[in-house]
Parts: sequence; C-alpha cells; structure tokens
Amino acid sequence: MLIRYKKSFKKIAMGLLSYMPQEKELRTLQETIESYETSDERQLYLWKIDEDIVGVVGVAADNNKVEILHIAVNPSYRDEGIGTEMIAAVTKAHPDQEVVPGEATTRFFEKCTKEAGKGSRL
Ligand SMILES: CC(C)(COP(=O)(O)OP(=O)(O)OC[C@H]1O[C@@H](n2cnc3c(N)ncnc32)[C@H](O)[C@@H]1OP(=O)(O)O)[C@@H](O)C(=O)NCCC(=O)NCCS
Repeated sequence: MLIRYKKSFKKIAMGLLSYMPQEKELRTLQETIESYETSDERQLYLWKIDEDIVGVVGVAADNNKVEILHIAVNPSYRDEGIGTEMIAAVTKAHPDQEVVPGEATTRFFEKCTKEAGKGSRL
C-alpha cells in the first residue's frame, strides 16, 4: 500500500533512499529528505506491507507531469514486483498527470514500461 511520507518515518525513509547510488553521502541524503519535507512540488511516498515500510518513491509534480526522482526497495523484498507496483500506484494517485522518469530512475522505469507492454502489472 502506498502511503504519504510524514516526519515520523524520516529514519526509515532515509535508510531506503540511501540505496539510490547518488544518495550515498549523508549530507546529500539529508538535503534530499529536507527537500521532500519543504517543497510543495515534491512528494515522498512509502510502500507499506502489513506494519513494515519496505519501499520509497519520491516525485516532483506539476500540473502536467509527475517526475519520479527516487525509487528504492529494501533488498530483502526485491524482485517481488514491489518497484513495479509502486510506479503503478503513483500513476494511479496522479491520474491527470503524465508519469515520467527522472535521470536517476530511467533504467528501472523503462524496464517497467517495457514489461507493461507485455501485460504486466503496470
Ligand atoms: C530498482 C528497484 C527499486 C526495483 O525494485 P524491485 O521491487 O526489486 O522491482 P521489481 O520486483 O518490480 O522488478 C524487478 C526487476 O527489475 C530489474 N531491475 C532492478 N534494478 C534495475 C535497474 N536499476 N534498472 C533496470 N532494471 C532493474 C530486476 O533485475 C528485475 O528484473 P527481472 O524481472 O527481469 O528479473 C530496486 O532494485 C532498488 O531499490 N534498487 C536500488 C535503488 C536504485 O538503484 N534505484 C534506481 C533504479 S533506476
């Protein structure tokens, strides 16, 4: 289930974001989480399974498009379709905007959209 970020999830969200290659430095990670807390255009979502937060997806949205800036899944939960489901859920949460990848998420996004053409969950 996709849920919106709130400050009580800060540590778990930072831990998940740190799996992104460009978020290895603590300072960068702190700036990233702050940008999601303060920017009106940015929204961070978490993926919850029962009581566990196992994924994160961060977007920058305007009236026309939603750009996926960050996406990461806890390594213990990878290859179970969660990343794909998160992109599908973000797309559903923003029905009036086009969902596009950011520079750091293009590879996975394109894989998902390719799979969608073959009839997967997206
Ligand atoms: C990318 C990520 C979110 C995918 O999450 P996931 O829940 O494992 O995704 P799914 O189970 O829906 O899909 C798994 C498929 O995506 C592929 N995949 C994983 N990372 C990928 C990447 N960076 N680029 C392209 N494909 C990728 C897997 O090899 C797997 O392929 P297969 O189905 O052919 O075996 C996860 O691997 C992750 O957190 N990676 C580290 C963070 C990161 O690099 N994010 C940016 C990705 S561009």
